Amino acid sequence: MSAQQARVIAVVNEKGGVGKTATVINLGAALSKQDKKVLIVDMDPQFNATHGLGVELDEDALTTYEVMVGDGDLDPADAVVATKWAGLGLVPSHVDLAGAEAELMDQPGRENRLKRLRPLEKDYDFILLDTPPSLSLLTINVFTFAKEVLIPCQTHPYALKALDDLLDTIELVRENINPDLNITGLVPTFYDPRTRVSRGIMELLQADERFEGKIFDTVIRSNATIAESAWKQKPVVFFRSRSYGALDYTNLAKELLKRGNGKKN
Ligand SMILES: Nc1ncnc2c1ncn2[C@@H]1O[C@H](COP(=O)(O)OP(=O)(O)OP(=O)(O)O)[C@@H](O)[C@H]1O
Ligand SMILES: [Mg+2]
Repeated sequence: MSAQQARVIAVVNEKGGVGKTATVINLGAALSKQDKKVLIVDMDPQFNATHGLGVELDEDALTTYEVMVGDGDLDPADAVVATKWAGLGLVPSHVDLAGAEAELMDQPGRENRLKRLRPLEKDYDFILLDTPPSLSLLTINVFTFAKEVLIPCQTHPYALKALDDLLDTIELVRENINPDLNITGLVPTFYDPRTRVSRGIMELLQADERFEGKIFDTVIRSNATIAESAWKQKPVVFFRSRSYGALDYTNLAKELLKRGNGKKN
């Protein structure tokens, strides 16, 4: 058990299909392989992270839905399920989570519900939060609880436009609810060095002064093994440890450990 508080990292991008869930699962697994204690929190009603980790839920299992809408006396440790891999825990999601926003509409403090997981911080080195591709009360709760933001950015057209919106959102969050939220970094995903598009978007990102010092050296290449591992419900570092996907996410884990939380000294 770690004596420190966990690094609580939101993996966000309002754009869909950019590799948020792949990053949460595979970075989480790679960190656990580096002997870190990792908790993945699935805040997406699509429950892709829950499925991708091969977790089958009992009927009465607690999920992020109960964490959000239940009364405050829930013990957050009861919402954690073990995965098949040591050091990798999960607070699963359920489709019901899609209704949480409506259910909480007139509840005071509804943007603070996820902070109910705070007692778990002492038990983990990392808490990684998977988010839906939209700005909703769910994402706001993630931003309220998190201390850091990690942005997977697809090296494809339209990615830069989505980043403009995301940076505006993060600025609003800092002004209104969480002034300490740090952008730890931006991780290029779906990189294909053979294509001019991938190389061109990388150059634009590198030249963008808003991200100075924030672009990870590690780039996640397009690699079909990553999708295959999701299908087989195993993190890629356990599914095919010598694939490009496993290699890239292992390097990302190492770089994240080295970089710290992105706070300027
Ligand atoms: N580097 C990669 N190379 C190839 N396929 C990938 C890569 N990263 C993710 N994928 C696959 O691409 C699809 C979309 O990725 P993922 O689900 O991680 O995106 P997401 O941002 O979480 O999407 P959503 O916004 O819908 O939650 C998935 O099938 C995933 O397995
Ligand atoms: Mg996802």
